[in-house]
Amino acid sequence: MDEKKCQAVLKTHQEDGGNIISLLQEIQEAFGYIPEDVVFWFSKELNIPASNFYGVATFYSQFYLKPRGKNIITACCGTACHVKGSGPIINKLREELKLPEGEVTSKDGKFTLENVACVGACSIAPVFIGNKKVFGKMTMEKASQMLKEINKDKGA
Ligand code: FES
Repeated sequence: MDEKKCQAVLKTHQEDGGNIISLLQEIQEAFGYIPEDVVFWFSKELNIPASNFYGVATFYSQFYLKPRGKNIITACCGTACHVKGSGPIINKLREELKLPEGEVTSKDGKFTLENVACVGACSIAPVFIGNKKVFGKMTMEKASQMLKEINKDKGA
């Protein structure tokens, strides 16, 4: 654990007089996610039970308790996208990214494939988002193309 980073976050937090949500946001910004040992460090420093942090962190979808990949692919799993066949495409992407059962991030940390409910673009379902770029009317071929594009852009 990087204690210097923790101290820096603590300092900002104390100066701002922030609450648990803002503290978690600062931790996530510093570490990329919310590591368990960091939560326990803050729990001790601030005399706040770790369960309070986890209560908040698990309630809001903006917080990540596990490291995320360098590249983020978001698959819409809303009804319209499901009906238009997002399921098989997700399975294909999982296969191509070699995602272990029950995991959303590839072992090498290059990709995270996460699901969200309707992203509000049902007219172009099924919708996928690769590193913030929206891919509508997704097909198997376009999905492979999207991965290629991301690999090329980011040198993933
Ligand atoms: S259900 Fe996917 S965009 Fe609405």
